Formats: sequence, C-alpha cells, structure tokens
Amino acid sequence: MKLAKNARFATICLHAGQEPDPSTGAIITPIFQTSTYVHEELGKHKGFEYARTQNPTRSALEANLAAIEGGKTSFAFASGMSAVGAIAARLSQGDHVIVTDNTYGGTFRLFDKVLTRYGLTFSYVDTSNLDEVSKAFTPATKLVFVETPTNPVLRLSDIAAIADLAHKHGAVLAVDNTFASPCLQRPIALGADLVMHSTTKYLNGHSDSIGGVVVAIRDEDIEWLRFIQNSAGAILSPFDSWLVLRGTKTLPLRMKAHTANGQALAEFLEKHPKVTRVIYPGLDSHPQRALAKRQMPNGCGGMLSFEVASLEAARKVLNRFKLMSLAESLGGVETLVCHPASMTHASVPPERRAKIGLSDALIRISAGIEDIADLTEDLSQALSGI
Ligand SMILES: Cc1ncc(COP(=O)(O)O)c(C=O)c1O
Repeated sequence: MKLAKNARFATICLHAGQEPDPSTGAIITPIFQTSTYVHEELGKHKGFEYARTQNPTRSALEANLAAIEGGKTSFAFASGMSAVGAIAARLSQGDHVIVTDNTYGGTFRLFDKVLTRYGLTFSYVDTSNLDEVSKAFTPATKLVFVETPTNPVLRLSDIAAIADLAHKHGAVLAVDNTFASPCLQRPIALGADLVMHSTTKYLNGHSDSIGGVVVAIRDEDIEWLRFIQNSAGAILSPFDSWLVLRGTKTLPLRMKAHTANGQALAEFLEKHPKVTRVIYPGLDSHPQRALAKRQMPNGCGGMLSFEVASLEAARKVLNRFKLMSLAESLGGVETLVCHPASMTHASVPPERRAKIGLSDALIRISAGIEDIADLTEDLSQALSGI
C-alpha cells in the first residue's frame, strides 16, 4: 500500500509505515518478540541482525511517527526521559543549553542533577519571552530545548521565532511536543530541528505503555540518534511499539474529543464561584491567546489547570473526585487530576515553582474523552466540598 503524496493527516496516522505482513497478509504489524534473527548463510541476512539494533515492529512505529510529525526519521525509546537523554547525548563537555524554565520536572532533574556532572551548562529561561531567549545565548550554546505548552501552567513559546533565533546562533531547536500532540502543533513545520514526545501520553493514549520518541530532519542528527539508540540501548520494546502504533490510528479522533472536553471544562471552571483562576490557552483570559490561535489552530487540547483558595481547599477537592482519578501522567482516554506541587513537580524547588506561577493551590486536569456532562457533574460535586 502506497500513501498518496497529498494524503491527509488522519490517513497518515492510520497508514504511514504500515504494510500488510508479507508472510501472512496480516493487516496489523505483528509484535516481533525476538532477540535475534537467523542468517541465511554467512554474510547474508534479511536486514535484521540483533533486536536492539533493528526490530520490525519498532521500525513500523518509527516510520509512522516520523510521518505524523512531518519529519524524515524517528527513533523510539524506552521512555520520554530516555528520548530527552538521547537529544542531550548530542552535546559535548562545555556546551550550553537554553531550556524552558518550567519544563517537565523530570527533564529539569536529568539536566540539573545528572548532565551538569558531565560539564554541560543549562540556562532556565522564560521562553515565552523572546528578549530573554535572545539574551541567554552564549558562544557555547548548542541546543535550545523548548516545551510548549508547559506543564502545568500552560505557558506557550513561539516556536517559529525561537527557531530563527537558535539558527542565527548556530544552535539546534528541540521541542517537547508531548502536551499538544502533532494534531494540534507542528514544530517541524514551524522551524524546529528535533521534536520529542513522551509517547506515554497522547500518542499511545490509553495509559498502558511508557515510551518516548525523537523525530529528526537533519542527516547529522539522524546519524547520531541511530548511533546513540543502538549504543545506549534504551529502545522501545516490540509490545510497546505495537501499543503506540495502535494508539496513533485513533489520534485525530481522540484529540478532537480531548480538545472539546478541555475547552468545555475550562469554560465551566471559569464561571465557577469557588475557582480563583483557570489556565487554558483556549480561553480569551489566557495571556497568550493570540499565539495559541496562530500556533495551535486546531484547538488547545485536553490539559488545563485551575486554582482554588488554598492548599487545604485543593486537598478537599482532590479527595472528593469520583469519576476523575487522582494520578500522575496525562493524555489517556480517562480523565486524571493531580496536584503538581506535591506530585509531578515535587522535585522542582519551591522557589522555582513560585517563579513559574505553580502554587500549592493549583490542580491540573488531563481531560479524557468521557461524556462532558459526567465530567462537569463530578467537578461540581468535588468543588461543592469547599
Ligand atoms: C512534557 C513531558 N515531557 C517528558 C516527559 C517524560 O516522559 P516519560 O514519563 O515517558 O519518561 C513527561 C512525563 O510526564 C512530560 O509530561
């Protein structure tokens, strides 16, 4: 099956990288659960030698995700964090990196607690402010690592403008596109060189796999990522590759439902008397609404945050949810709520949390795809406890 050159996004999600199995005609790519491949004779094999280096299920997923993000090639890793690590492994001692200041806590931990030990330096910058980005470059800056929208305060960074700045300074721009998904935001089309995802989230979408991916367009990045994936060996397993492939088939449908529910919940919360602040880029009250419309023209997804009067009030609300589950992670079909200050962002020092506007009274919602009436009823009853 050959995809037409002008195949549309939903068709690409379903079909890219996937051929019927040549030995049986199975329409779904099989899970090639094998560690090695038999050579026909010395020096003659079918292109597969050892499963850390090549696995057909992983290759199908990598082709699929590269097409979905508009990249040339992608590399699937055992987690989102190992995908971040693979991007950072491109750097050498003495190199400097500009990072979004309220990047995911695990990314900050990897950079701050591990990679500084290898002679890399990091500047944590409010990348929603282009002047600050511009001022942060040094002659040693090799990478700009941007997360947009950020977790959990949903601040946006202008990918196209930052790509221009990075390229002017001879640096590479990598974008963590986990929160938006490629349905809602296209970093490569906007000028980014590398895109990464925690596939754990929207790409897999069913809360049953941990994984990561880096999508690349430049030959030198592709060569290095292939080398580092094989050398460090943090590959995505065949079963997890199969799960994510299953997930991407319904990505456009799911993202439409996540976005509709995210927008409706944000509008519901904005009118609620017990809620002191709602953060969602799809609301006119979001300070970067204009950028959201330009950069995320198909809607703003399922992630939103809101504040109540105090930590005590937040605790009461979180403990009263019945349908929504109190859990870390996001991007699955079921709605999750969390308390970022004590859960996902506990490893971020309190003064840094305060600087990025992450208060102890903030609650994050990952809107699932349930009926919106059931979600608003659960929110109402949870908020009625304060
Ligand atoms: C934006 C973002 N990037 C990266 C990661 C890390 O991904 P993983 O948990 O799959 O290692 C996460 C995890 O929550 C995330 O939210």
